[in-house]
Amino acid sequence: MSDNVSLEVVNNIALVTVNEPPVNAINQQMRAGLLEAFKEIDQRDDVAAALLICDGRTFMAGADLNEFDTGVGEPNYREAYAAIENCSKIVVTAMHGTALGGGLEAALSCHYRCAVANARLGLPELSLGIIPGAGGTQRLPRVVGAKAAVEMIFGIAAITAKKALEIGLIDRILDGDLKTEALAYVEELLAADSGVRKTSDMTVDTEGYDDAFISEMKALAGKRMRGQNAPHLLLQAIDDAINLPFEEGIRQEHLTGEEAIVSDEARGLRHVFFAEREIGRIPGLDKAIEALPIKTVGILGSGTMGIGISIAFADAGLDVTIVDPSAEALERGLALIEETYNQSTAKGRISEAQKSERFGRISGAASYDSLSNVDLVIEAVFEDMDLKKKVFAELDGVCKPGAILASNTSTLDINEMAAMTKRPESVIGLHFFSPANIMKLLEIVRTDKTSSEVVVTALKLAKQIRKMGVVVGIGSEFGFVGNRMLTMGYMREADQMLLEGASIEQIDQAIYEFGFPMGPWAMNDMAGVDILNSVLESTGATAANPKPFFNVSRALAALGRAGQKSGSGFYKYEPGDRRPHHDPLVDDIIKQEAAKLNIEPRKIDDDEIQQRCIYALINEGAKLLAEGIVYRAADIDVIWHYGYGFPRYKGGPMFYADLIGVKEIYETICHFQDQFGHYWTPAPLLEILAKDGTGFLEWTPD
Ligand code: COA
Repeated sequence: MSDNVSLEVVNNIALVTVNEPPVNAINQQMRAGLLEAFKEIDQRDDVAAALLICDGRTFMAGADLNEFDTGVGEPNYREAYAAIENCSKIVVTAMHGTALGGGLEAALSCHYRCAVANARLGLPELSLGIIPGAGGTQRLPRVVGAKAAVEMIFGIAAITAKKALEIGLIDRILDGDLKTEALAYVEELLAADSGVRKTSDMTVDTEGYDDAFISEMKALAGKRMRGQNAPHLLLQAIDDAINLPFEEGIRQEHLTGEEAIVSDEARGLRHVFFAEREIGRIPGLDKAIEALPIKTVGILGSGTMGIGISIAFADAGLDVTIVDPSAEALERGLALIEETYNQSTAKGRISEAQKSERFGRISGAASYDSLSNVDLVIEAVFEDMDLKKKVFAELDGVCKPGAILASNTSTLDINEMAAMTKRPESVIGLHFFSPANIMKLLEIVRTDKTSSEVVVTALKLAKQIRKMGVVVGIGSEFGFVGNRMLTMGYMREADQMLLEGASIEQIDQAIYEFGFPMGPWAMNDMAGVDILNSVLESTGATAANPKPFFNVSRALAALGRAGQKSGSGFYKYEPGDRRPHHDPLVDDIIKQEAAKLNIEPRKIDDDEIQQRCIYALINEGAKLLAEGIVYRAADIDVIWHYGYGFPRYKGGPMFYADLIGVKEIYETICHFQDQFGHYWTPAPLLEILAKDGTGFLEWTPD
């Protein structure tokens, strides 16, 4: 039929097998193969039934997303799947692995569906900013009812075979070998004289699909997919399934689907999907290099970071020893870990047995000696270079040869720590984000001497603990990638705008409207205003940068306004309540700071706030790329989405820059430079790309 679809007739059953490793993503060739196969089956007198299955680790996991950027070639999905559904012989499909998107839509075009017990079925299109466009919005409600269809599509996560059976999406769960059992099921259907059962002939059950349910779904979309259009398109398509004849509904779905595919939101979401996978590919790294085995981990320090990291490892099945010389601190840390697990069990996230197992993997110790046999140590002690150097020298003496020594520093130069050891090749930065057991980002910081083997090990480890591991270098400024862009770009600009007349609330709201979960000042209050200030001081950033430089933040920190933890920061807080409240005192402080600098307050509009914060990020990102601190622009996008909540549907700062147009960003920054002076200098790479008319995503270093 085609290279990825084969047809074989066994007795009177036509076996159509799809084979497109690794995940049987559906491409033009596959659609052509399916179309041809089912047209032939329709015509053959020696065939009584057809069985559609897939080779490899999974059923079709969806449309080939690469095709969305180039345009979906002919035959289109409608045509190929209509050939399956309109086949005059009964068509059965048997699913294994993950039947997602266009894969599940192919299954919905079949007359009978079965799946192995551990199969997962889903329509995750909303996570890609699109709607199911291969008949899914019209066929799924006909099979399971409108309410269950919307719940499934809005739920995004794939459902189990058991659940699929419950809602009528599949007819049977197979036990044993997929092909053998599926063929037996086909024989059974033939023996029972089961006829063709076309989904398009069914009507939609609308029970429970009322105004209250629709409002509930809209509210859910507003919360989980704020700013995105696809959920609204989906609800319209479901209405069409209810109200329009099948053919008309399918035509409408096709038109809406095509538009959604090329929308900015879908492009941004596709970009992040591929970027998440790209981060694991390190240019120039020998693919033959194998990761070192890591089974036991030592964590130095039982503060917030130390305990979060310990939980992340214990959750992934690794044994953890937390070392803290202070018995009191250690006891407090272990109690906090237990409390975290208690909360997880209370919320039903893990069972009592899982809690005991995970907590049982964590032990405490007072001295470094207990780390003599661990495979990896991560220090999470206070951010003080002298202390860290001492720690590395001591660890080097205690730990077994080959053990990896890692620092969780967010700002300090790990090269200096590595220099304290006789194993600089085994030293690396593992920069977790707080709370480390929740936040999915891990900056993997290579030093000048970190070996490739250790980098590969860190990448594998990141996957094991379900983090997005992004390999970065140490640059000319503090803060690796994420925090450098945060401070030297985004927050610095936000602080400056306070002096110029924007209010704290206005800045936070404008950034929230852009799509971040919270604005810079609410975030800073959460992270600790004192922390930002001490980083700026200790790294020499305050001394090195022209003024004004974080004048408002520094003034607040000097007054002991450390944020949520001290009851006041940029906002004020009621005891036991994390909701921020306006504090007129801060207005006075800002006015005083502005007056000291002779800055006249003016009205700043929300567009300016968004542009200045986001373009400052992009400009700093351009410097990081040119310095070779990241391998590619997509790495920055993953860091900013997972570490700082940059809206996924906007793709990350560098994707966003390309979307707006690098030339436009460059020109606006030049304009900012004229208007605001000093640090608004366009990054040289930004200027080059603007003049070349290209973008960050296609840029590669020479
Ligand atoms: N289109 C194109 N390529 C795809 C793809 C798709 N729909 N789904 C997966 N791939 C590629 C990945 O990019 C990856 O390529 P790489 O090895 O070159 O990086 C490879 O297939 C393996 O995917 P990966 O995600 O690493 O494997 P996994 O086993 O962890 O997960 C899936 C498998 C199917 C669960 C996951 O890939 C997935 O969710 N895919 C998207 C499914 C989807 O959204 N379908 C609806 C589309 S309309």
